[in-house]
Amino acid sequence: MKYYLETYGCQMNEADSEIVAQIIERKGYRRTDEPQKADLILVNSCTVREKAESRAIARLSQFKGYKKDPEVKLGLLGCAVERGKDKIKEEYPFIDILLGPDSYREFDKILEEANYPYQNFSLSNKELYEGISPQRTSDLNGWISIMRGCNQFCSYCIVPYTRGRERSKPLDTILKEAEEIAQEGIPQITLIGQNVNAYDYADKGFGDVLEEVARIKDIERIRYISPHPSDFNTRMIEIMAEYDKICNHIHLPLQAGSNRVLEKMNRNYTKEEFLDLVENIRSIIPEVALTTDIIVGFPGEKEEDYQETLEVMEKVEFDNAFMFQYSSRPGTYAAKNMEDDIPYDIKNRRLEEVSSLQRKHSLEKNEQLIGQNKEVLIEGQSKKNKNEPVGRTEEDKLVIIKSGQPDKGEFINVKIKDIAGVSLFGTSLE
Ligand code: 5AD
Ligand code: SF4
Repeated sequence: MKYYLETYGCQMNEADSEIVAQIIERKGYRRTDEPQKADLILVNSCTVREKAESRAIARLSQFKGYKKDPEVKLGLLGCAVERGKDKIKEEYPFIDILLGPDSYREFDKILEEANYPYQNFSLSNKELYEGISPQRTSDLNGWISIMRGCNQFCSYCIVPYTRGRERSKPLDTILKEAEEIAQEGIPQITLIGQNVNAYDYADKGFGDVLEEVARIKDIERIRYISPHPSDFNTRMIEIMAEYDKICNHIHLPLQAGSNRVLEKMNRNYTKEEFLDLVENIRSIIPEVALTTDIIVGFPGEKEEDYQETLEVMEKVEFDNAFMFQYSSRPGTYAAKNMEDDIPYDIKNRRLEEVSSLQRKHSLEKNEQLIGQNKEVLIEGQSKKNKNEPVGRTEEDKLVIIKSGQPDKGEFINVKIKDIAGVSLFGTSLE
């Protein structure tokens, strides 16, 4: 029996897919990259913005044709299922399996009993998938989900409704998983959680997790995603500075620069607090790379609010940013209580402007790297030119290597020689 599994959305979803793969493989299924050859076709979905949701569901609709063979089963997993619940079943009756993010252990029963259709949307206060070693898909990076769920309730965000409340994994379990990753020869660990620095288990916080994982000998790089600005403390930043192997990169979602909008978003910080945090981080780790998420066109966002987003971007000069137009998500506080009143044209113009400002900053940051020596982890060959290896710096920047043929998984020192757009070019110093 073969299964095909496609994943949309965030790193947590990628990590979840590795859990799903393990549960299914324990039942004797083997993975295929060709959906037409699969007995079980699964799409792990995202619903953070409307586009993300429709893409995942459209994909599954494309696979409907394979059901001419009645033995072929289709499953939709993850956040879109949780948001749509019974509506999805009504609208897409051809889907055989609907499972929310806390229900993947159900595959044991589903595959044994073959009783279709099957659905489970229940959210758990406890599920952390302990005891299931992920079927890892990368030999360069191992995910460890150290916590799941979110208690922040940003007013625009669907995640607290699709992934439930925060819960953290015991530190011992995290360290066991980290040791396994090290033993498999995987050089990098990424600690993940919807609100990763809110980690809280038996008096241990995120700083403790960072420090204990950093002490594991064979792990060479540690990353984490996504932290919330209001859950940082100075100790976490000091630990990052203390351990070389913790990458000097923080993804620090700003979302908006006006206090009025930040409050309506329920972000729990002001513009001033965000800027203070950036200053604190940079005073402890001067060479840190900062990336962010920005939303334009939040309900009621006036031109002057939006200008403040640009101002904060000018002050911080992020290395990179993911920028989005506000998308109303049914079920959230904003969808229920605030009118999605910014016309598409204005949202679009604001998005283009923040994107072009960010491009300018990304270029400036990259230019500053010319002449510097950086260690990169080789990821493979460049997409454009198959003969050129590419690697990633600890700041999460891709460098195309113009000399030598280092192997995937190797760490090499390179000198950054040139940039073209946001691409960096380097030569090996080995
Ligand atoms: N509309 C637009 N962007 C959103 N994000 C989350 N919810 C929405 C929404 N309703 C963005 C935020 C978040 C990132 C993962 O997605 O910027 O940080
Ligand atoms: Fe998408 Fe958010 Fe769910 Fe991740 S947690 S899959 S980003 S909706």
